Amino acid sequence: MASVARLGQAAITARVPAKINLQLAVGPARADGYHSLVTVFHAVSLFDELTVLPAGETSLSVSGEDAAVVPADQSNLAWQAAIALAKAAGLRDAAVEIRIRKRIPAAAGLAGGSADAAAALVACNELWQTGLSSAELAEIGAGLGSDVPFSLMGGTAVGRGRGEQLTPALAAGTYHWALAFGREGLPTPQVYATCDRLREARAASENRPAPGEPKLSHPLMTALRSGDPARVGPLLSNDLQPAALSLRPGLRRTLTAGRENGAVGAIVSGSGPTCAFLARSAAHAREIAVGLTGAGVCRAVARASGPVPGASVVRDGT
Ligand code: C5P
Repeated sequence: MASVARLGQAAITARVPAKINLQLAVGPARADGYHSLVTVFHAVSLFDELTVLPAGETSLSVSGEDAAVVPADQSNLAWQAAIALAKAAGLRDAAVEIRIRKRIPAAAGLAGGSADAAAALVACNELWQTGLSSAELAEIGAGLGSDVPFSLMGGTAVGRGRGEQLTPALAAGTYHWALAFGREGLPTPQVYATCDRLREARAASENRPAPGEPKLSHPLMTALRSGDPARVGPLLSNDLQPAALSLRPGLRRTLTAGRENGAVGAIVSGSGPTCAFLARSAAHAREIAVGLTGAGVCRAVARASGPVPGASVVRDGT
């Protein structure tokens, strides 16, 4: 085992984007409790920043959006990421001080926790000069959470398996979004469990077959290649949306308000409760954001564009 004492001492900062799902097709629950899925991930310009510094023992602090509800202990995925990376790299004494500055809300369907894990992997990898490849980081990330590999990769990508098996997608142009943050987060496992329950109830009452294996939307992939938001918008889909709406019925009003403000697509992001509205342009995204604020249908709004790159180091040194 190598000791990190002789390695670089500078602070390293990484920046990492939020994600939304342009398609989220959820299959049946697997034996391991996860659901097989096909999803189209899209990284957007709402970023968390994470700084790591060499330290005598590992610690973690959180500031910014939702800081009060993000755990500042070993249960934080960023802390677990640092431990997992040190182990994979065969490092001992690999303690770090981790400082997270959040703009991505917690439990929002935007992969904020996974983003911080990805940022911790990238920053510690640089700090410790482990020499591990991107593929090795992605594998460590997949062990931490299904969305971590995408938070590392960024861009627009198709995810399969439980979301960790990625293929970059061909997408043209830039897409402009207004994001409506919910008043209260939604725990991802609860949303998947509700999705299962709603499907079972529907199957029983309507004599429908259980959901089959999820399939990629080829019309969506074709629309993404066109770069035309007006073509992409109507093709956005999310199998978790009925579950999120049943847990937070007020989100229906949020979606309606976005549509009334001319959004070309309106969808719950991932497991919610964030609602994502696709705009025709950056100026139109601003109009939708203003309209949502005026309608009083969410806690806060943000504007973002995508695709953007995944977790990356932004500066060295203190
Ligand atoms: O992988 P991650 O820890 O982010 O997943 C959180 C929870 O979301 C899982 O414990 C599971 O309940 C649910 N999940 C799922 N199927 C997936 C991804 C997540 O059921 N493909």
